[in-house]
Amino acid sequence: MKVFEKLVFPNGSEIPNRIAKAAMEENMADLNHAPSEELMRLYQAWADGGVGLIITGNVMVDRRAMTGPGGVVLEDQQHLESFKRWAQIGRSKGAQVWLQINHPGRQMQSNLGQETWAPSAVALDLGKMSDRFNTPIEMNQAMIQEVIDRFANTARLGEKAGFTGVEIHAAHGYLLSQFLSPLSNKRQDQWGGSLENRSRILIEIVKAVRAVVADTFTVAVKLNSADFQRGGFSAEDAQQVVQMLNGLAVDLVELSGGSYEAPAMQGQARDGRTLAREAYFLEFAQEIRKVAKMPVMVTGGIRRIQVAEQVIESGVDMVGIATALAIEPNLPHQWQQGQNTAPELKPIHWKNKTLASLANMATVKFQLRKLSLGKRPNPKVSPAWALILQQAAMARRTRLYKNRMRHYSTAC
Ligand SMILES: Cc1cc2nc3c(=O)[nH]c(=O)nc-3n(C[C@H](O)[C@H](O)[C@H](O)COP(=O)(O)O)c2cc1C
Repeated sequence: MKVFEKLVFPNGSEIPNRIAKAAMEENMADLNHAPSEELMRLYQAWADGGVGLIITGNVMVDRRAMTGPGGVVLEDQQHLESFKRWAQIGRSKGAQVWLQINHPGRQMQSNLGQETWAPSAVALDLGKMSDRFNTPIEMNQAMIQEVIDRFANTARLGEKAGFTGVEIHAAHGYLLSQFLSPLSNKRQDQWGGSLENRSRILIEIVKAVRAVVADTFTVAVKLNSADFQRGGFSAEDAQQVVQMLNGLAVDLVELSGGSYEAPAMQGQARDGRTLAREAYFLEFAQEIRKVAKMPVMVTGGIRRIQVAEQVIESGVDMVGIATALAIEPNLPHQWQQGQNTAPELKPIHWKNKTLASLANMATVKFQLRKLSLGKRPNPKVSPAWALILQQAAMARRTRLYKNRMRHYSTAC
């Protein structure tokens, strides 16, 4: 089977098969924002399960800018020993382990009490839930430079800790994806307007990261194949950005899609184009494959070996799997042994799409929690119950985060 053939990246490094554990934010950092024991156990499960590549949940480049409370932050050397153990555990059975590095921009809940930065002062539109997010401050030149430097610094520290690469998160409506989209980037300077300008921050970050890591360290980018919003980042834009990345020693482009406003990565594109298929972004990936000089990975909806094999047969180099590996971390081994395991969660048919999306995330996080405690996942859990548990856990972690940040700002 092609899925179990090794892949060699442009930098010469290899992975034993074509299956990646895609990034899933765990919200399991310890009080110092460093990897906790729960996180170690979770990653041991994935390492033991036989994936070729493990991409961590998004790791923040700045503790003031979090996708959620309890997130991992890597901005200095203080807790590097914990990161070293995390990397070692992930690599213990031969997988490569990449840190996914991210900045939320405007997709940061206002109750975290931090200043929200974004390319332009355009607020998220989540209907009744919009007030959970601040209208962001338009970033000035110094802020943009600081973010570029921070991505490079986190990548450098990641290499020092023993990770084999980083994935720069430029998808799902987070800061870099906000710069890419004309709906959230209204700037008229060199960081906005034309696609070349909107891509500039991503390109500068890739260059800055490459400048501080070894050639053998893998540098990847997660990109939306489209935003699935009228007037947003389009499939043609994505193709052109990949062409810009072609010359920059990028080892892999992972394609996903959507944002908080249009959660296509969960199979809920508002225009319905990607619905009801099992590899949501495969057609986009095939188009991008034609222009990409680096390997391409597609993530979203994949949970059956037949689909994974079809994706690879179609010329896309890797499959990224999130939900199915949260339910069954041993999936690669089971597939290799000829089992037809196809892990699935109960579908959520709620009218409120934002709430349904949150419930879906909560149901997956419920599985992560089980694994982190050394228990078996329970994919049959009620989404409403998982959501209640998740909201309670987030409220507690938000309190802890705010206390910690108060202490941090008085200490500095
Ligand atoms: C609980 C959860 C957390 C996620 N966190 C991240 C993240 O930190 N970074 C990221 O790029 N994608 C994240 N995603 C999106 C996944 O990487 C993936 O693109 C999406 O779940 C679709 O793949 P799947 O159908 O295999 O789950 C997350 C998804 C879930 C369910």
